[in-house]
Amino acid sequence: MNIMGFIASPRKAGNTAWVANKILEGAKEQGAETQSWYFSDLDIKPCQSCYGCKEGNRGCIINDDMQQLYNTIADADALVLGSPVYMGQMSAQAKIFTDRLFAQFSPRFSPHFKENAAKKKLILVFTQGNPDSDMFQVYFDYTKNMFQLLEFDVKGMHVVTGMRNGPAHERKDLYTAMKDIGSSLVLE
Ligand SMILES: Cc1cc2nc3c(=O)[nH]c(=O)nc-3n(C[C@H](O)[C@H](O)[C@H](O)COP(=O)(O)O)c2cc1C
Repeated sequence: MNIMGFIASPRKAGNTAWVANKILEGAKEQGAETQSWYFSDLDIKPCQSCYGCKEGNRGCIINDDMQQLYNTIADADALVLGSPVYMGQMSAQAKIFTDRLFAQFSPRFSPHFKENAAKKKLILVFTQGNPDSDMFQVYFDYTKNMFQLLEFDVKGMHVVTGMRNGPAHERKDLYTAMKDIGSSLVLE
């Protein structure tokens, strides 16, 4: 199983990277091949709404690092998308990435969408400062639904809370919890 981690935080050694990489570590221990992509290392422009992706078979016509990610996603069985919560939502980096999926994963609008292709499995993981896990539940439910409409097989939506009280790597409870998410992705 080939699993890609997409880390949509500007902090490569931050909470989001740590939890996403722990999930990947759990998957790797069960035999998966994993790789992490840090959006802070990549030049990914916002969707220009040019609809070039809907003409012919070119896919997205913006020539930037998202092209690497399209290829990576095509070869992947599962994705782990990690984002910090910024102002009650995903980070701008995560939103730009999500908008760019319009070129390939929008069944209603995309000539590139393959009706019979196996759905990509997806784990969504957020980290937030606030300890209240209900605070943005409406948004998380909405986001999960949105990815399902994009025809992802959403296997989990996980929110790691309370980061204002200390970094994720100091939270002993998270070691096993995050690795278990990764191993379940492989073993289920
Ligand atoms: C611009 C910005 C906005 C944030 N907005 C929220 C928020 O609305 N709710 C919340 O609980 N935490 C919020 N936080 C805290 C982050 O979600 C939290 O610290 C997260 O774990 C950071 O992830 P990172 O370590 O990967 O950068 C915000 C942080 C920043 C920098």
